[in-house]
Parts: sequence; structure tokens; C-alpha cells
Amino acid sequence: MGVFRTGFVQLRVPDLAAASKYYSEVLGLVETDREADRVYFKGWDEHDHHSLIIRQDERPGLDCFALKAEGPEDLQQFENKLETKGIKVDRISTGERLAQGEGFSFEDRSGHRVVVYYTMKKVGNGLPLENPDPYPQGLKGIAAPRLDHLLMTTPNAAEDLDFYKDVFGFRLTEQVVTPDGNPIAIWLERSHTPHDIAFIPGRPGGFHHMAYWLDSWYEIGKAADVMAQHNVKIDAGPTRHGITRGHTIYFFDPCGNRNEVFTGGYVPDADNPPITWSVDKLWTGIFYWDRSERGSFTEVYT
Ligand SMILES: [Fe+2]
Repeated sequence: MGVFRTGFVQLRVPDLAAASKYYSEVLGLVETDREADRVYFKGWDEHDHHSLIIRQDERPGLDCFALKAEGPEDLQQFENKLETKGIKVDRISTGERLAQGEGFSFEDRSGHRVVVYYTMKKVGNGLPLENPDPYPQGLKGIAAPRLDHLLMTTPNAAEDLDFYKDVFGFRLTEQVVTPDGNPIAIWLERSHTPHDIAFIPGRPGGFHHMAYWLDSWYEIGKAADVMAQHNVKIDAGPTRHGITRGHTIYFFDPCGNRNEVFTGGYVPDADNPPITWSVDKLWTGIFYWDRSERGSFTEVYT
């Protein structure tokens, strides 16, 4: 029982044409569908119809993110738990959202809209299931294979920690705590990676970044080359995080939504104890190599 992973992220973009070109040619995602006001993408190695939706809107930011449940019985259990916490659920019927089966959405403690579902149309990863090549031909740009995680902002990480553990069975991998032991930033996983979702201090509903996975540190360097070729401004990196141990590079889409490509980290067993960072070591946790404060990284988000 539980959720597999973060299923998809839906972002607002003021310039749908520019954003669509960027996600296709720079991040190298595969466009799977489009409607009048939105475009659907997936990483090349994902089998489900989409892991990213960009939607035309006046201001950038996060519309919602989605958790893919393990089965239909989980939907009812999650709904019951949310009800006991006084959280209203909006049902989503099959076919109501393109390529997505039944589910529901709700607003979490920190003001983020969360979609929960368990089926999505399968479109495959461009490779046969029998005798496949290691990757398909014709990939573009960074050619990210799959969505990895997203980081959001919250006024109360301690509350979010209790909520996501209790309702969805997330496990805490890492936290930043104040001297009195109060968590102000948290990293949570369901897919045996350092994080599927994470929260840092900030306003309710804030979106810091979403990250697509790459297979190696070498690929992170190649991603920097692709950004230079396309005149995409690099926000931070390539570098290594202390928190998660991952290798990373940050950049922005043409509409101001922060993106990351990420690799490495560790494989947490479900019974691992969480790692704790004291708040005075926050910047070592974020940028392990230069260990210096960069206010814009935590203060600028959509
Ligand atoms: Fe990240």
C-alpha cells in the first residue's frame, strides 16, 4: 500500500510556445500530446503518457504535482485519512484529465495542489520490450530519461513531515533542524531514492524546482554544454549537494520556473535512520563543494 513515486508535475508558463520549444529541444523531453492551452511531455525512458504538463497562464509556478498510487484500494485509504484530517478531496473521473485514470486532488498543509491517481495511458519508452537497444535513436538536447523529484516551499515543514508520513507513508531521509530540534526543511522518499518530494522554508504554495534524472556525472557536464549551446542561463553548478549526496546543475525555463538535472545520491533502505543537518551547516548541505551562502538560490522561486 502506498504511492510509487511522483507521477507528474504541472507548471504554469506565460509563453507556451517558448516553453514548449525549450522543454523539447533543451531538456530533450518527448512531447506526447497537446491541447489548446497545454503541452504534455515525458522523459524518454518513461512508459507513462506524461511526467510534465506545461499550461499557459499569466504567471509561472506550480499548478499541481501528482502522486502515483500503487492500486485502486490505496485511493480509498488515502481519501479516508484525508477526511479524518478535515481535508476536502475533489474527485477526478476517468477521462476527465487527458490519459489519466480516476483519482482525486486536494490542497496539502502547505498550500500545494496534489493529484493522486493510479493509472495512466502507457505509451512506452521508444524501445521494444524484447531485445532492446540501451536507448532510442533521435534523442534531443539533454535527453532526460525520467522525472526524479520536486522541491517546494512551506511555512511549516514539521507539519508537512507528519502529514506526508501519516497519509502516504513517505519516509524521511534528511532534514535541516534548528538548534531546538525543529525541522525547517525535509526530504521524503517512496521510491528508494534520496527524495521524491522535499520542502524548504518559504511561502505556502511556492515552487522551488523540479528535477529530471540523468544517468551520470558526465551527463550533468554534457547538460551544461547543451545549456551553453542554447544560451540558457545556468543558475548554480555543476556541483554536488551535501544533502542527498547528488550531483546537480540548476537552470531556468524561459518563463522563470527553476529546473534541475540530478544524478547520484544513495539508495535508502526503508528502515534507514534519517540524516540530520544543523541549520548552521545549511549551505554545506546545499552546495557541498563551495559551502558558501547564495541567498538568491533559496529566495528566488515561483
Ligand atoms: Fe533537487
